[in-house]
Amino acid sequence: MSSRSGYSRLQIGLHWLIALLIFAGWFTGEGMGRALHDRLQAGSTGFSDATVHVWLGVGIFALIAIRILVRLMQGAPAAAHGGSALMDAAAVWGHRVLYLLMILAPLGGVVTWFVGIESAGEIHALIGNALFFVALAHAAAAILHQVVLKDGTLTRMVRPRG
Ligand code: HEM
Ligand code: HEM
Repeated sequence: MSSRSGYSRLQIGLHWLIALLIFAGWFTGEGMGRALHDRLQAGSTGFSDATVHVWLGVGIFALIAIRILVRLMQGAPAAAHGGSALMDAAAVWGHRVLYLLMILAPLGGVVTWFVGIESAGEIHALIGNALFFVALAHAAAAILHQVVLKDGTLTRMVRPRG
């Protein structure tokens, strides 16, 4: 994947929009087990009884597909700090894990809800929670970089490349 001097305006917009929707998705997950149970009991299909959580999740899924395509086309800048190889590797792998969880969380939700596999719900909830907590650690790392190491990491996700 190509290395760039910064993230594009589109990449930055997608990053913050998806982050917001993922946090909203996590908070609306509560009560979904019951909603799923009712849906299966009623034999509903399609979007007829979709909840806020389902709408949000489907939107996130579509946005992530776009984001991955943009990332493949536009690449990403090399690590900001030019610090140790270990820190660079932690950033690269942290982002890979986030991408993986961003694909698996909505995918698991779709299988649970639209295919109607109740047992997949537990795995989906686990992955959704993992995404939330890894994202929190990621946000803490970004703030630490900006405030303590002062290497401009957060600025890169605010100001598009020139
Ligand atoms: C990134 C997107 C998503 C996140 C972060 C997420 C997160 C969560 C979490 C944390 C739970 C467990 C809530 C609890 O029991 O307290 C949950 C449950 C659930 N979610 Fe999602 N979700 C996402 C996308 C989706 C999508 C796209 C769908 C369906 C189209 C979906 C359908 C469900 C269902 C049916 C449950 C209930 C599972 C069960 O208890 O058996 N989710 N989700
Ligand atoms: C659900 C929430 C979030 C997810 C899933 C997420 C995911 C990601 C991913 C995958 C990247 C790598 C971008 C790429 O290489 O294409 C990234 C970069 C970044 N994120 Fe997040 N993020 C989230 C929330 C946040 C928050 C809340 C902050 C700040 C407080 C933040 C700050 C950053 C920064 C500064 C970068 C650029 C890092 C660098 O250039 O090395 N993110 N994020």
